[in-house]
Amino acid sequence: MTLKEVLESIKPKDEERKKVKLIMDELRGIAQEVIEESGEEIEVKFVGSLAKDTYLSGDHDIDMFLAFPLSIPVEKLKSKGLEIAESIGKRLESYEISYAEHPYVRGVYKGYQVDIVPCYNVRDWREVRTAVDRSILHTEWVLKNIKGKNDEVRLLKRFLKGINAYGSEVYRRGFSGYLAEILVIKFGSFLKVLEKADFMLRQKIIDPENWLKREPEIAMKTVKREIEEDKPIIVIDPVDPRRNVAANLSWERYGLFYFKAREFLTKPSTELFFPRDKKGNYLEVLRRKGTHLVTLTFEPPNLVDDIIIPQVERTAKGLARQLELEGFRVLGIDYGRDFIFLEVEEIERPRIKIKKGPLYFTHHGLRFFDKNDIVWIEGKELASEKSSLGFIVDVLEDILRKGQFSAGKNVKDAIVGANIIIDFVPKALAQEAYLFLSREKFRVK
Ligand code: CTP
Ligand code: MG
Repeated sequence: MTLKEVLESIKPKDEERKKVKLIMDELRGIAQEVIEESGEEIEVKFVGSLAKDTYLSGDHDIDMFLAFPLSIPVEKLKSKGLEIAESIGKRLESYEISYAEHPYVRGVYKGYQVDIVPCYNVRDWREVRTAVDRSILHTEWVLKNIKGKNDEVRLLKRFLKGINAYGSEVYRRGFSGYLAEILVIKFGSFLKVLEKADFMLRQKIIDPENWLKREPEIAMKTVKREIEEDKPIIVIDPVDPRRNVAANLSWERYGLFYFKAREFLTKPSTELFFPRDKKGNYLEVLRRKGTHLVTLTFEPPNLVDDIIIPQVERTAKGLARQLELEGFRVLGIDYGRDFIFLEVEEIERPRIKIKKGPLYFTHHGLRFFDKNDIVWIEGKELASEKSSLGFIVDVLEDILRKGQFSAGKNVKDAIVGANIIIDFVPKALAQEAYLFLSREKFRVK
């Protein structure tokens, strides 16, 4: 297998490029008509991998930004922006309103998904006011610096997808497309980026535009913050010294890249770019391991993943800690928007708890004697026995009812009312359960 062959299957051919370009031109036309009618002064800008020519064949999500002048206030950007985006949406095949930091429109045009996103027409980072404003600067930076390395980016993206480390969404926490672009620009090629997998971790800080020199105070603040949060790497955004482009990258996803890069360099294979589906049966894994799976399913409130998922994570960890305190060994946890998995060694524990008491001939000893029902002597101390819940579901329900676990505030109510099931999951979670229990999810050997 050669990289050329991989490229052959992921690089868009002329016909595809022409089609994409045509669609973008048509969309621009539609947008400009609507803008004209509105009388507002808005520039249409395409961002994302189509605009940067780093998209993979078949990946055609179009990002069309409506860039408003800086003179209008944020509130107006939100209302007017949505109004205009919606008017554009109405001229497409279908559309809906989506909510991020501010609302935008997601439509479909000739089978392509189009995000229509209001933003500010910023010239540099000092002017950035909303989370999406930077995308315009990113696109300009990549176009200026990529110098024909577009296919190297495509290889890296496909590799990252293949090893399951691509995508910076919260439920994944992998490499973003922009991060892949920066790494190729910085190190020169797909292979060179792989060779740097270890170096990057040790170096920790990657600063392609020398912000540490140009804006030492601001860039150092970014570095300190990200180190405190224990991020695997810090890539200071070439267009904004306040941001770590790799802020969402988890140690697990970096770990996949770390080991798979090594594997590819010693033994190149297409398998890594195009892996076979990891399918399996979680019930078989449970039988083989002799462990148990506790699943909580619940309905979280209708908020974006960026809010819900970190809260579910915190809750899952809180519940695991509480179960450990109750005497259940928790072997692993996993979670998603509407479920928590806890793998445990046992689902039953003794139905009594032994309490060690104080010296029997003291004031404390007598109090202990009075307060407990079954009390005996061990040497010069007292001990007592108390009955307790034995079944993990009862224990967990007790923990939930009492609310004695740390949890995210938006998900706590939902999780308190969760369904608890043992060694069985709803069909939609079967594959997740398999990946979790088999540890295939982050398996490197
Ligand atoms: N973006 C970012 N950081 C992220 C995600 C997105 O800065 N974690 C910005 C980048 O400016 C990026 C744009 O949003 O160019 C579009 O995001 P996305 O579609 O996720 O990335 P693409 O570069 O378009 O890559 P892909 O081929 O995966 O669509
Ligand atoms: Mg995109």
